[in-house]
Amino acid sequence: MSIAIASDHGGFELKEEIKKFLLEKGEELLDLGTNTDTAVDYPEYGMKVAEKVSRGEVEKGILICGTGIGMSIVANKFSGIRAALVTNEFMARMAKEHNNANILVLGGRVTDCDKSCRLVEIWLSTKFAGERHQRRLDKIKDVETKLGG
Ligand code: RB5
Repeated sequence: MSIAIASDHGGFELKEEIKKFLLEKGEELLDLGTNTDTAVDYPEYGMKVAEKVSRGEVEKGILICGTGIGMSIVANKFSGIRAALVTNEFMARMAKEHNNANILVLGGRVTDCDKSCRLVEIWLSTKFAGERHQRRLDKIKDVETKLGG
């Protein structure tokens, strides 16, 4: 599996649309829930995806809650995770080009389906620029290691 995806109830509808979009593109997906619009706690679902990416069991992840904020907070607690909440095309491109984000975070109550699919497409197709951006990511890794991550 190359992409793990999960949401809470606030992101459930958008998750289903993004899944359709990615499956049509031939991507391999691991759906870690939630599977209904019944209220659930976003940390449970954020952890599932972040853990898989952090352990290298999947290459990247997509997380969706109402705003995307809660999912970003939880995912970025995990070692090696660079989760980026994006709301526009520029941010989606920069999330990969500069930050090499391995988890894309979206807000189901913020960004509509068409735009979200465009943001996913941009993030997936953009290449990390490396060089000075790698140096900056190394500094983040150093902090993580120093703090026991
Ligand atoms: C759930 O109501 C909402 O708090 C959640 O989806 C998310 O937006 C949290 O950051």
